Amino acid sequence: MAVRLFMWTTLQLLCAGLLATARDGVGERMQTSVAPCTSGPLGMESGAIPDDSITASSFYHEDYRPSKARLNVEKVGWIPRKKAGQWIQVDLSEYTAITGVIVQGYRTMQHVKSFSVKYSDTAMKGEWKSLVDEEGQVLELAGNTGSGQPVTVTFPSVIVARYIRLLPLTWSRSAPYALRLEVLGCRDAIVRLVDGDVDWSGRVEIYRNGSWGVVCDQDWDLLDATTVCRQLGFKLGAREAKTGSFFGKSGSLPAMMARVSCKGTESRLADCPFVCKTPDKCGRTREAGVICRPNTIRLVGGSNATNGRVEVRRSDIWGTVCDNDWDLTDASIVCRQLGFSEAVEAKAGAYFGPGRGPVHLDGLACDGSESDISDCPSLCWEETQCNHTRDAGVICRSN
Ligand SMILES: *[C@@H]1O[C@H](CO)[C@@H](O)[C@H](O)[C@H]1NC(C)=O
Ligand SMILES: *[C@@H]1O[C@H](CO)[C@@H](O)[C@H](O)[C@H]1NC(C)=O
Ligand SMILES: *[C@@H]1O[C@H](CO)[C@@H](O)[C@H](O)[C@H]1NC(C)=O
Repeated sequence: MAVRLFMWTTLQLLCAGLLATARDGVGERMQTSVAPCTSGPLGMESGAIPDDSITASSFYHEDYRPSKARLNVEKVGWIPRKKAGQWIQVDLSEYTAITGVIVQGYRTMQHVKSFSVKYSDTAMKGEWKSLVDEEGQVLELAGNTGSGQPVTVTFPSVIVARYIRLLPLTWSRSAPYALRLEVLGCRDAIVRLVDGDVDWSGRVEIYRNGSWGVVCDQDWDLLDATTVCRQLGFKLGAREAKTGSFFGKSGSLPAMMARVSCKGTESRLADCPFVCKTPDKCGRTREAGVICRPNTIRLVGGSNATNGRVEVRRSDIWGTVCDNDWDLTDASIVCRQLGFSEAVEAKAGAYFGPGRGPVHLDGLACDGSESDISDCPSLCWEETQCNHTRDAGVICRSN
């Protein structure tokens, strides 16, 4: 069964809406959950993050020191030497689900055009991980373009860590370049699934007031499990509610919730009624778990969750859709499946960039009544002639 250590070494939360899959490492199980939060600014602008929590690898001058890197606050920002390999680091003081950042340059000229992200629980050497894509490649995120206005950068997967580092990769031609930022995310009532065989199942753990705890299984049912799965971004809800410490005991974690009574419509487990005075341990009752229904569709490469290249999961492999006969009716099935009202536009020709992996669907001919893209007629038996230059995309109406 699962190794507890994993929780700390490979925990990776994924963001609702913009889903990424866990990579199947050789002989290694990816511990994955998905992000829950109503993401908000963590305090670079408001000052909730104190000056001494902001450090950097280099700075020129007292006026440009790391703590000046607060969104909208200082005139210029943090100014590193114009040299690769530099970084700015924020200590969020506790375990935090980080969904993205807001970055800002100075005036029109001085800005960071792209950057990568590292994160850590300890900030110790050798204990930093990079934000990567599904293939394990370090992500290069687009930053500012020159307006001096803040740009929100949503990470494709939510990271859970105490420390975050931004590493500028490219910058405006006029030196010195400046960076100001806000970190987006949330701390409380995060849930995660631990010790499951796949990233959509596991023991339910919830984070509150600086520590993780478990949920006792008394009265634990599918409605409770559905709320957990939806909070984690599994739009299809739960397949099973597991009781009796099905995914093994957590060991030392305290019981934080008992007799949870969700309706299944809540956005967070913490919003469900439960017995407030919980025991220290689940005791005679056991710890609750869930098996969610894994997502089978997602949008990738768009500007936000409402648009992107359509990717579908078949036999656990994500692939794309060819734009043959791709139209608004097909696109609307995708949008509705993702919880949007309808499609505004069906995009062809890899409008959102070419995908990777197989082309799973070709020649879709939905009639508009389907609830799942895989229920639409398509050229099922033909080997597709399409490559990723013809990947289909959608722009959905955000309700
Ligand atoms: C939060 O944790 C701290 C220290 O662990 C404790 O002193 C405090 O009472 C806790 N607050 C709540 C609301 O549980
Ligand atoms: C998503 O991005 C599109 C275009 O980039 C924009 O028009 C739309 O308002 C955005 N929607 C949300 C919900 O941010
Ligand atoms: C994709 O297919 C087109 C023709 O269908 C071909 O011209 C093009 O070279 C292919 N591109 C790649 C990257 O294979």
